[in-house]
Amino acid sequence: MPVPVILDCDPGHDDAFNILLAAAHPAIELLAITTVAGNQTLEKTTLNARRVCSVAGIRGVPIAAGRDRPLHAPPRIAENIHGDSGLDGPGFGEGEPEVPQDPRDALTLIRDTLLAHPAPVTLVPTGPLTNIAVFLLAHPELAARVERIVLMGGSTERGNTTPAAEFNILCDPEAADIVFRSGLPVTMFGLNATHQVRATAEVVARIAALGTPLSGLCVDLLTYFASRYREVYGFDAPPLHDPLTVAHLIDPSLVSLVRAAVTVELNGTHTRGATVVDLHGVTGRPADTEVGVEVDTDAFWNLIVEAVRVLGRPS
Ligand code: RIB
Ligand code: CA
Repeated sequence: MPVPVILDCDPGHDDAFNILLAAAHPAIELLAITTVAGNQTLEKTTLNARRVCSVAGIRGVPIAAGRDRPLHAPPRIAENIHGDSGLDGPGFGEGEPEVPQDPRDALTLIRDTLLAHPAPVTLVPTGPLTNIAVFLLAHPELAARVERIVLMGGSTERGNTTPAAEFNILCDPEAADIVFRSGLPVTMFGLNATHQVRATAEVVARIAALGTPLSGLCVDLLTYFASRYREVYGFDAPPLHDPLTVAHLIDPSLVSLVRAAVTVELNGTHTRGATVVDLHGVTGRPADTEVGVEVDTDAFWNLIVEAVRVLGRPS
């Protein structure tokens, strides 16, 4: 049976590939996409989700906009990585994307989707956790219809936005704290795992060799993404963070997992937004979060290339 999922995202180059992977692979039933402010403003992340679905031929998946700012933290964006549009690199044209925005807001779409689906649904947030936190606070009665939360965020090691904090968690630490302490099963793929999946020139060449308009657009996305990671972090290739979430749902053996207590730092002057991962059980807190550790990178890239091939082939 395919895994029913809702993607909550801030496209964002890596979010875009997560949408492609979820839509393409038969092991996933992509029920809905919700957007949140993060890599860019809510308006831009929502437009980008529509753009990705439009160019990839993804239809019948409702896209609804969520929160445009964090619960308490001041808004921040990652224009230095994702550009002014949030999806710089390819040209998407000026007109409105073919795929419309759903008239509901994200919370309503998540609620309606959970109520309509005959089995519990997996939530896959790959941006700031504002929408998920607000949903859990607003609809505690629907928690039983959430199978689990599989998120990209945090790190067992250092951050990428401050030395201590990863972008998604730092954008809204209070929301992340609510999610990690929700009591729902949480699987976290942090930078320690996602930095293992770097889109090297070899990967880009494999995608380019598909020779379709979609593969060409994906090459443009990765080329831009690579230029920014080189400039900002000195990386030789950009980590494609977000698709590790859906790749794990497709193939649970793809990333090794450990169980650990994960606490979000809310008050540290220099450490706010850090995910404090108790890998050795020294705090006595319950090891209730699954944390991704070692990645089968070949298996990961095979999934990504196959998703682009499948969606890009002439219909
Ligand atoms: O820190 C990386 C994360 O922040 C990714 O999800 C990226 O898309 C941004 O949202
Ligand atoms: Ca993201």
